[in-house]
Amino acid sequence: MAALRTHYCGELRREHVGQVVTIAGWVNRRRDHGGLIFIDLRDREGIVQTVFNPDVSAANHSVASELRNEYVVKVKGRVSLRPPGTENPKLGTGDVELIAEDVEILNMAKTPPFYINEEVEVEEPLRLKYRYLDLRRERMQRNMILRHRVVKFIRDFLDARGFIEIETPVLIKSTPEGARDYLVPSRIHSGKFYALPQSPQQLKQLLMVAGYDKYFQIARCFRDEDPRADRQPEFTQLDLEMSFVDEDDILNLTEELFTSLVQTVTPQKRLSKPFPRLSYAEVMEKYGSDKPDLRFGLELADLSDIFASTEFSLFRSVLAEGGKVRGFAAPDCGSYSRSQLAELTDFARSRGAKGLVTMALDGEPGEALTDLTPDKVRSVAAKFLTAEQIVEIVKRLGAKRGDLLLIVADKPKIVDAVLSALRSEVALRLGLVAPDLLAFAFIQDYPLFEWNEEGHWEPMHHPFTAPRSEDVPLLDTDPGKVRARHYDFVCNGSELSSGSIRIHNREIQEKTFQILGYSKEETEERFGHLLEALECGAPPHGGIAPGIDRLIMLLAGEENIREVIAFPKTQSAVDLMLDSPSHVSPEQLRELHLKLSED
Ligand code: AMO
Repeated sequence: MAALRTHYCGELRREHVGQVVTIAGWVNRRRDHGGLIFIDLRDREGIVQTVFNPDVSAANHSVASELRNEYVVKVKGRVSLRPPGTENPKLGTGDVELIAEDVEILNMAKTPPFYINEEVEVEEPLRLKYRYLDLRRERMQRNMILRHRVVKFIRDFLDARGFIEIETPVLIKSTPEGARDYLVPSRIHSGKFYALPQSPQQLKQLLMVAGYDKYFQIARCFRDEDPRADRQPEFTQLDLEMSFVDEDDILNLTEELFTSLVQTVTPQKRLSKPFPRLSYAEVMEKYGSDKPDLRFGLELADLSDIFASTEFSLFRSVLAEGGKVRGFAAPDCGSYSRSQLAELTDFARSRGAKGLVTMALDGEPGEALTDLTPDKVRSVAAKFLTAEQIVEIVKRLGAKRGDLLLIVADKPKIVDAVLSALRSEVALRLGLVAPDLLAFAFIQDYPLFEWNEEGHWEPMHHPFTAPRSEDVPLLDTDPGKVRARHYDFVCNGSELSSGSIRIHNREIQEKTFQILGYSKEETEERFGHLLEALECGAPPHGGIAPGIDRLIMLLAGEENIREVIAFPKTQSAVDLMLDSPSHVSPEQLRELHLKLSED
């Protein structure tokens, strides 16, 4: 049996002129021009115009007049050049048209709930309920095809460098990656559960113990955490791991992979090499975030010591309670109106700040800083500051006359979070964000542990990260000072990947669990398999796991992760198309030994 078509609709070009071809696809649009009917037929490759002339075939013309948007149609005809002046440069096929000689309706279609043939805003719930229609739209097709190209490139790139792809199971045991697990009840083992992997972390480490150096996998991961614009309950990682390597091997490979990926798949994007390698302390200091957007400057500076010696009680009380005062300069925004300032303050509040102190500097950029007396600064803080203090603040923030200083005082974490968000907001408002630039960077030298709100140590990333060898003695004496052999890979304010050199020694791994507060029994119960494997000739190893969805978002220029996933979940983790999660039958529950609680 021959295929229903000889060519894709979107494939037809000048070189096909004169050929008789058969195409099949969806009616994108029908236009009735008196005698002639034009049917734009669409398939995966694009759109082509077909022409039905009643003088050629009255029967075909009559079929064409019945066609409605989204009908599935097969058309046979001769490819012709469009009459001069009627070419459509917006279409790849725009120089040609198909003069229909035969037409067959393969299926009819209801009127779709939204326009598929136009780039119009459609409510997202409707798009997600009818995702199979939404996916027909050009933008979604572009994103899906880009995703395919990226994954194919990654596979080929790694294959050419001797990596092998190994699948690991999806029904596993809980892996601590910082989120809640999705659990799957066992029918055979009453009361027991599998966990879906938050990542294949332990499995890839066990593959290193098994000798499968240079492993990778395009791996599905599952995390029961609140979805966000760049987070889904299930998402995809490029998970990779290598043996007998140190940090530079992994970072160099990652840099090479991402550089050639971007150059090949999205050559319209710009990036600059080498990717900077920055320390955690440095980026927190300069940008208030360990995933800084490096497409623009707007660096932060600390002003705590200056405000500590002023009578500005608002800030002094924050400082007395262990808080800090930091800020940055918004260039040439000194003439912002009251309402513009109020917008920035509201923005800061929405990110957790109690308030925002603004200081609008009078004057022109070239004017001297020395005569910046308090009366030339529009701010609630001005009357508490001397001219010297003002000049010191301005110098620290690298500001000039005519700038607007944005200053936040609060607990250090809040100050950083608010200022880092404000940096991006101001950069957007000032048009400082180059849309085609990908500012990749590696962040290193993280602490291994973080003291959490509940009053105990938790891993900054995951508990398998190795400490720097010179810091191992600190595990016993001062865990907070231990530096991790961890690195993050960031781009344009988004965390794309994290990875590390791992612990490959049982004693250090046990000590880590101990610091994290696991009892001996708990450690054995949860991680006995790994600890034993570390005693069976585990090689030094390390890896990284770039998030594929976030990468596609960046390359496609999408703001929401749902735009790059074929069948995503909503903000409340629901699949609107399948109506999942859903109730199951009492029979299914019984088989799984589950009883639902009344409330
Ligand atoms: P981590 O937890 O940092 O590291 O995850 C690595 C990358 O996966 C992506 N990512 C997500 N993408 C979409 N939705 C989510 N809910 C989500 N969570 C994470 C991010 C992130 O940078 N096992 C370690 C890696 C390693 O050490 O090799 C891990 O999973 O892009």
